[in-house]
Amino acid sequence: MRRLVFRAQHAGKRVGVVPTMGALHAGHLSLVDAARDDCDLVVTTIFVNPTQFGSGEDFESYPRDLAADADLLAPHGCDYLFAPTSSEVYPDGYATTLDVGPVAHPFEGKHRPEHFAGVATVVLKLLHMVPADVACFGKKDYQQTLVVQRMVTDLNVPTALRICPTIREADGLAMSSRNAYLTSTERHQAAGLHASLQLAKKMTGAGERDAGVLTQAVKAHLERLGGIQVDYLAFVRAGTIDEVAMLDGPTVALLAAHVGKARLIDNLEIEG
Ligand code: PAJ
Repeated sequence: MRRLVFRAQHAGKRVGVVPTMGALHAGHLSLVDAARDDCDLVVTTIFVNPTQFGSGEDFESYPRDLAADADLLAPHGCDYLFAPTSSEVYPDGYATTLDVGPVAHPFEGKHRPEHFAGVATVVLKLLHMVPADVACFGKKDYQQTLVVQRMVTDLNVPTALRICPTIREADGLAMSSRNAYLTSTERHQAAGLHASLQLAKKMTGAGERDAGVLTQAVKAHLERLGGIQVDYLAFVRAGTIDEVAMLDGPTVALLAAHVGKARLIDNLEIEG
């Protein structure tokens, strides 16, 4: 894989990579399109990374269908699908793990303590295996983009990051491989996640600045819908993980919740 990338680069080609865990949907494919627009050669990686799942999480049941994924990638102009095995990624005796510091601690980090060490480590490994010029990530995983950015900056990784917008279903639900876990009732309830963040955005547009008031309104909205257990809801300064009590500039609302068997996350940029 590495030789293939170096050869392309020596021939003056720009190489893009899209790291994924498969079960591809239009969100993933939008990253492939972004890489395609920007690069001469596009590699998508598929690896369900065990180290970023906690015990009791859905590693075993995570949807896997490599053949279907390959069929989806071809029409988007993906040149290579790189799907290493677990033992290729984690050789016998594997012991190294990255700690990217404070950006990984709150929110997802609090609810999933080993998660970001697993993400940062596997992304660094994937960028060594596929040493691309550009790597595309989705804004849907807001904190993940900050963790990866921190890791790439701190460890001098010579790959530029491109962060792409969240692709949604018609009713606003952010596309996710985990949406497959939802029953039809839950699927309907799950659309409330985005709707509730839109409510916060609307209230902010009407002049509300108090994160406490916004939080109450969002939670009340979700309670009315039923079936949704919120893990966290927070308002952070855009581009950071710093929570704000009073909105005073570009802000991102972060939401994580359980709907049935699925744990879903979403976020929305709002003015402050
Ligand atoms: P996965 O959840 O498969 O997502 C792969 C990439 O697709 C991530 O950058 C994610 O933010 C992006 N993505 C997911 N849903 C999206 C949507 N609705 N719109 C736009 N982009 C979306 O994130 C991971 O895998 C893993 O943690 C990984 C980075 C591959 C490391 O294992």
